[in-house]
Amino acid sequence: MKTAQQPYNAVTRFFHWAIFILLLVEFPIAWTMPDVRRDTLPNGLIAWHIFFGTLILAAMLLRVLWRVSRKAPPELPMPKWQAVAARLTHGLLYLGFIVLPLLGWANASSRGWDVKLLGFIPLPALSPKGSAFGHELGDVHQAVAIGLLVLIGLHVLATAYHEILLRDGTMRRMLVSWKR
Ligand code: HEM
Ligand code: HEM
Repeated sequence: MKTAQQPYNAVTRFFHWAIFILLLVEFPIAWTMPDVRRDTLPNGLIAWHIFFGTLILAAMLLRVLWRVSRKAPPELPMPKWQAVAARLTHGLLYLGFIVLPLLGWANASSRGWDVKLLGFIPLPALSPKGSAFGHELGDVHQAVAIGLLVLIGLHVLATAYHEILLRDGTMRRMLVSWKR
């Protein structure tokens, strides 16, 4: 089997696309939910934002545990700078989508909101109620979310470059491996 045709294992592929779909839901919710002000309560779309955000955090933690416990398929042959850029982008996506929900959670705690996983499993407060620092993290949360969206854009562009110009079968590594 050529390197390019060695797929990621099924669980890795499942996590990749499940989290992609969760993010397709989470970002539009974030931008359509009401502005969060001092006396805002976590109801309606804000509750959904927390529901999907904590679900993404849990899925990302399981995904990283899975990733470090298994061997990934060998890297595709490519110039050194591209291999470094790919590793850096992937690493930042893993780290970013763990840090981002934690920032949102810390901000929610500073507002005195009870954060629950899946809407019913209570999670501890990450910052004291009324904490000015926790409050500031709301802005950091927003900025990091935009930064990660840009990074996803680069990631998708890089995939398109491999698929359309190089035709090296990169996409198939992350899709169901129906062709062997
Ligand atoms: C990957 C998961 C997440 C993504 C992509 C995300 C994305 C965003 C974005 C883009 C905004 C800015 C909305 C705007 O511009 O009006 C936002 C705001 C917010 N998010 Fe998240 N979020 C995530 C997880 C969470 C979690 C887990 C929590 C809480 C437990 C949370 C709590 C909040 C709060 C409280 C705000 C308002 C912040 C403020 O205005 O000070 N987020 N989120
Ligand atoms: C249309 C959207 C997307 C496409 C087409 C896509 C495509 C791919 C492909 C083809 C790979 C395999 C790269 C390789 O073989 O070296 C990959 C890996 C990866 N993707 Fe995506 N992706 C998308 C969205 C996302 C999103 C939203 C995230 C955010 C978490 C993400 C995170 C990752 C990570 C972390 C890896 C590295 C896997 C590893 O080696 O552990 N991707 N993606």
